[in-house]
Amino acid sequence: MNTQTYKASAAAKVILCGEHAVVYGQPAIAVPLSDVRARATWVQSGTSSLRVHLPDVGETWDWPPGPRDHPLSLLIRETLAYLEIPTPGGELTVRSDIPVGGGLGSSAAIAVAVVRVLAAVAHRPLSPAEVSALAYKAETIWHGTPSGIDNTVIAYERPVWFVRGTPPEPFTPHDPFTLVVGDSGVSASTRDVVLAVRQAWQKAPHRYERLFQAIGQLVHQIRDALEHGRVKDVGPLLDENHRLLREMGVSSPVLDNLVDAARRAGALGAKLAGAGWGGNVIALVEEADAARVAEALRQAGAVHTFVTTVQGASGNGRPK
Ligand code: PMV
Repeated sequence: MNTQTYKASAAAKVILCGEHAVVYGQPAIAVPLSDVRARATWVQSGTSSLRVHLPDVGETWDWPPGPRDHPLSLLIRETLAYLEIPTPGGELTVRSDIPVGGGLGSSAAIAVAVVRVLAAVAHRPLSPAEVSALAYKAETIWHGTPSGIDNTVIAYERPVWFVRGTPPEPFTPHDPFTLVVGDSGVSASTRDVVLAVRQAWQKAPHRYERLFQAIGQLVHQIRDALEHGRVKDVGPLLDENHRLLREMGVSSPVLDNLVDAARRAGALGAKLAGAGWGGNVIALVEEADAARVAEALRQAGAVHTFVTTVQGASGNGRPK
């Protein structure tokens, strides 16, 4: 007998520019990291329930009912109801290469991969907007009231322009561009960093509002450069974004050191990415320099590096 198998995956994401200022109404851009992925596999088993394996966290459970209040349990229920199919009896295995807690969207990528594999089982192709809306439901269990940027950028697998309180807007750069991501290995709580910025803003509102506005202007310039095929112009804008984040107090000696190492190795520009104090840095590079910049980041203490190319409309990038 042929055992039916379906596979799906979803990319990680990183904030390219605009973090923190986005909390105060400025735009931010997030991009997919297509080479770092979460994967979901469904294998038919002839039973009427779904056995869910999460080997990365050592969990196995059966759905229905699944563990109460587990984001994936809720996600499976919502997705099957949306697809209008009965429980597909089988083994659902979910694995991820995306580091957890580093601002790379690991939970949203897992959710998107699960929605996609269930849609494949149902032979029901879903649009990115439908996948994103379903994944957002799981994100609300994981994160309370998330902005929606992670599920959007991951479901569309395209850069997303994000302004708080408005729907995230996917857009397409004119040309592809290559990023090297370096993980500092230092964990920092986004909540704590966001709170520290809030307290600093309350003490010095004018200074901080000037920083937020300056970052907002850079984000507009970066989108403009990306949409008009001026990738090289983005490098100095990322450098300036990092300088402003330092002034805001969210960098650290470890992150500054990684950013400097990337620049010395020939990056076009580099900055911390995400909340700061720890987590990741990103460097914009010429594709030919990517390996050298990644090596420089590891020499400077990065615990992991990823190289990824964000696709552009001109189609010059590597195929996915
Ligand atoms: O590190 P991430 O990708 O979770 O991003 C945090 C971004 C902040 O602007 C610092 C916070 C936020 O909610 O936008």
